[in-house]
Amino acid sequence: MAFYEGVFPLTKNRIMKKLANRTVFITGGLSGIGKACAIAAAKEGANIAVADRKPADEAEAMKDIKQENNKAIFIECDVSVFAQVESAIEKVVNTFGRLDVALNNAGIGGEPNKVGDMTEEGWLKVIGVNLNGVFNCMRHELAQMAKQQSGVIVNMSSILGRVGFATSSHYVAAKHGVIGLTQTAALEYAMEGIRVNAICPGFIDTPLLATGGITDHEEVKQHIIGLHPMKRLGKSEEIATGFIFLACEDSDFMTGTAIEMDGGYLAI
Ligand SMILES: NC(=O)c1ccc[n+]([C@@H]2O[C@H](COP(=O)([O-])OP(=O)(O)OC[C@H]3O[C@@H](n4cnc5c(N)ncnc54)[C@H](O)[C@@H]3O)[C@@H](O)[C@H]2O)c1
Repeated sequence: MAFYEGVFPLTKNRIMKKLANRTVFITGGLSGIGKACAIAAAKEGANIAVADRKPADEAEAMKDIKQENNKAIFIECDVSVFAQVESAIEKVVNTFGRLDVALNNAGIGGEPNKVGDMTEEGWLKVIGVNLNGVFNCMRHELAQMAKQQSGVIVNMSSILGRVGFATSSHYVAAKHGVIGLTQTAALEYAMEGIRVNAICPGFIDTPLLATGGITDHEEVKQHIIGLHPMKRLGKSEEIATGFIFLACEDSDFMTGTAIEMDGGYLAI
């Protein structure tokens, strides 16, 4: 037993949990990085609202996200559709009364092509989810947080929000755009009790990499691993530690930053 449990039993929760009773909204929370962040936030005492376009995966994932002492709800929502995001945020506020933390994480990979061969459809699909989706979320989250005069937003960018990557111009442009949105909103809301930051993960071992043809092709996987000085892929749980840090008071003096969690990828 920790020393304070005997001495201050009533304050144990406050000492231990970094997000006790906060309302945390996470897009793309049924899989990979988003799910790991949802579980980590739930363990830190938060009530969780997961928004995802895949209700088929809901039951299994939500079982992991629901902890003993928190509430967790699922909202079916395609972040690329402005009106769906608006009603998702309304549902969060109707359910929990407020919105304290938002993780705009939903994202997809796309058609691998050089810019000169990229189809318009392939371009628009990735921009629609990975850039417009983040704008749609921030637009409605910030309206609510401005009413509260408090809140924290964390946007999931990427190392590819910092540098280029051949055949992924749509993804790279969207992730650079997410950093621009992050910095601009941070400036606009710095005096309203709202912090806005981003995370730039290196390649993380999630279902996204399998569908993107990386982890299911050994040669490609080894090439990608080799781009990281640590010579391994990251884990979703490692990114979740960065999310919790940015979501809670530990990062109170940080806004407009994009932290790199990338096994050294960008140091080369
Ligand atoms: N895995 C990596 O290597 C890596 C690296 C850097 C950044 N990221 C970013 O991290 C985020 C999460 O990626 P992941 O690797 O966990 O992927 P993932 O495929 O495991 O999870 C993504 C989740 O987002 C959901 N989603 C996709 N489109 C959506 C939409 N339009 N509306 C609502 N939900 C939607 C999916 O259903 C899924 O649950 C993405 O933004 C991705 O670009 C991933």
